[in-house]
Formats: sequence, C-alpha cells, structure tokens
Amino acid sequence: MFKISIFGAGFVGAAAAQNLALSQIANVVLIDIDGGVAAGKSLDLRQTGPVLNHSASLIGGSDYEATRDSHIVVITAGIARKPGMSREDLLRINSTIVSSVAREAYKLSPNAIFIVVTNPLDVMTSLVQMETGLPSNQVIGMAGVLDSARLESFIAEFLQVSPLDVRAMVLGGHGDLMVPLPRHASVKGVPVSELIPADELNKMMQRTVNGGAEIVALLKTGSAYFAPGASVAAMVKSILLDERRLLPCSVKPHGEYGLSDVYVGLPCIIGKNGLEKIVQIELTAEEQEALRISAESIKTNTTQALSLLKPPAPTTLAPTEEEPSKAAEPVKADSGTAK
Ligand code: LAC
Repeated sequence: MFKISIFGAGFVGAAAAQNLALSQIANVVLIDIDGGVAAGKSLDLRQTGPVLNHSASLIGGSDYEATRDSHIVVITAGIARKPGMSREDLLRINSTIVSSVAREAYKLSPNAIFIVVTNPLDVMTSLVQMETGLPSNQVIGMAGVLDSARLESFIAEFLQVSPLDVRAMVLGGHGDLMVPLPRHASVKGVPVSELIPADELNKMMQRTVNGGAEIVALLKTGSAYFAPGASVAAMVKSILLDERRLLPCSVKPHGEYGLSDVYVGLPCIIGKNGLEKIVQIELTAEEQEALRISAESIKTNTTQALSLLKPPAPTTLAPTEEEPSKAAEPVKADSGTAK
C-alpha cells in the first residue's frame, strides 16, 4: 500500500486525508505541530471506516519519524488567511514554516513526490523545490485543479447542468492574477461561448479569481477546505495510479510558454513520476500576456520570500552579552486551511 504523509492537520489536511482514505489507495499519516489535533483527527477518520467502507490506515501525531519513506508528501502547514488578508500577506510566516517542514520531510522521504498546498501557493512550491533540491517534476503545487473546479462549478450552476459534464481550465498564479481560459471551457464538448453570454462568462471568471476570498469572507475564521482537500486527492490519485490526467498545476517550466525559473499554473500530465509533461496549448496574445504578468508577479514574491528566509547579515556592532537564544515559537498549523 502506498504511504502518504500530510503535514498540517488543519481543515485542508484533514479533508485531503478523508478523501484519500475513501479512495483506499494509500495509508495516511497526518502530522501537525499539535500532535493531539493530528492524532484526534486521524482517530476520528479511522472510525469512519465501518460506516464509509474503507480500511485505510490513518495515524496522526507530531513525530515526523512516522512519515519515513512516504511515497507522497503533502504540505498544508502554515497559517490560514483571514478576511482582508491576501495570500501574499502570508508570505513571511508561511515561508519559514514551509521551508522547515520541507527540509525535515525530505530527510525522511528523499524519493517522495511533494504536493504543496500552503499559500502563497506558487511561491511556497518554489521554496519546497529549492529546500529539498528535488527535480522539479517531483514538486508540484495544488491550485489550478481547485480554481478550475470553481469555474466549472459556476458554469454548471448557471446552465443548470451536471458539473460532471463541464470542463474548464485556469492557469497562472493562484491569486488575483490567475488566468481563467473561457475559450477552452465546454459542456460535453460544446464551447461555453455558444451557451453563455459573454458578460455572464466574465462574471464567472471574476468570481473564480475571487473564489478563495469569497469563502474566506463567509467563513470569517478561515478559508476553503473541502474543495482544496478534494483537489489534493485528485492529484495524488493521478500520481499513485499513474492516471496521467491533464490537470492544471503549479509547476516549473523550462521554456514552455516562454517561462522559466518560476512556479506557475500550467496544463500538466500528472502520473507516477509526478509532472510527466507540461502540455503546450495555443494561447491568444492576450492570454499569453496575462500568463507572463502572473509569472512575473510570482517571481517577485519568490525573491521576497527568499530574502525573508536569508539570515540577517551579521552586525558590526561590538559584541554584547549573549542574549539567551529564543527559538521562534513554533506556529501551530491553523485549524483553518493553509490558504
Ligand atoms: C483558496 C485557497 C485554497 O483558494 O487558496 O480557497
């Protein structure tokens, strides 16, 4: 049985764990700085087995050793967004948490494929790849699956059709500069442009861009977790079952779409090796420019995150009495999502 370790037992981590338990494809280890939260949620999830007909092994705690030799590592650890906060506001705090978790998780599972969920997503994914030194195909960010699902859901609701028949794709960064692609949206192959007036489609695209904030504003105490958790599970399944699904994910292009040295949402084939291939689709000049602008913004935020992580240059002041070093208070993975 495959082994998946989820770092961060907040709502997103727990929702991902539940989806993965139900899929019966892997044993799940839930880790949190608050070991009781991870242990309690995994115990609770185990007890769904008789009711929901799954026999997945689910354990939880704060001891990273339990994650040794994981096939997949999911990182949701970090603090969640509060109303009025942008994902970039989380940059400073979550950069420290995610880098530390990635470093320790990698030591125990050097061959794992890492799926990153913590916000600001594209920047955090880049930090994990740098911190682990893994080939970029083994470090993937979860965002496009979620953003695309939101757009598909809005299209289905508007047309009063099953969401099962709606396909849409959102590329770019997981933030205000994401790039919904309405030209590629369809209902059972019928382009949505033949079914939905342009102004209504524009409203849905804007609502998609604002999708996370809309839920944050409603919840007031955290952000979305059911759809993010399900999106993580979809990516994990595509990897462990080698489904080779075409999923929009945050990956590191090497020249595709004229982009490199950045993690950004692109169409991907996801299989047993993680990112199998970045799929090049035709974009209009406007779509390509929006993607470029989004990638540039991520690059800027990634540079900022790296500067925050760099130890401050030693001061040249005369040495003073050594202050007892005060280790940074560990930050508990929020009960909300890391988003
Ligand atoms: C959201 C978080 C997952 O979009 O960023 O809800």
